[in-house]
Amino acid sequence: MFKKNIDLTGKTILITGAAGFIGANLSIELLKQIEHIQIIGIDSLNDYYDVSLKEYRLAQINAIQRTTSGEFIFIKGNSRQISDFQGVYRVHTRGGCKSGGSGGSAV
Ligand SMILES: NC(=O)c1ccc[n+]([C@@H]2O[C@H](COP(=O)([O-])OP(=O)(O)OC[C@H]3O[C@@H](n4cnc5c(N)ncnc54)[C@H](O)[C@@H]3O)[C@@H](O)[C@H]2O)c1
Repeated sequence: MFKKNIDLTGKTILITGAAGFIGANLSIELLKQIEHIQIIGIDSLNDYYDVSLKEYRLAQINAIQRTTSGEFIFIKGNSRQISDFQGVYRVHTRGGCKSGGSGGSAV
């Protein structure tokens, strides 16, 4: 259990690189520890290393999400591209839903 300096209960947060080592582990810990958190994760799933590892991490996040009160929405997209980033705002402004969203491309 980490010391919390801010209360993220019920908040929506954006994690870039959500399928990467740090982003995925952060997503999992936040889902486990914060009630009703909504995480919008964006990742381009680049092939700097084996993409199947990133897909495995996303599957892990989704499995953990189902055991918590939180929500994880994944957008496959480039955080440097405004057209992909618009999907983040679309997801955020439409209110919560347990999966889906639109582009980038949400999975
Ligand atoms: N892992 C460590 O121990 C460590 C330590 C200190 C700093 N860092 C830094 O933290 C960051 C993340 O590290 P990591 O180990 O999780 O790396 P990682 O490569 O596992 O994850 C990065 C993720 O970002 C995604 N990504 C890259 N460019 C993107 C873009 N433009 N749009 C959307 N997604 C994009 C990649 O597909 C990847 O899944 C890096 O900048 C790294 O240098 C890592």
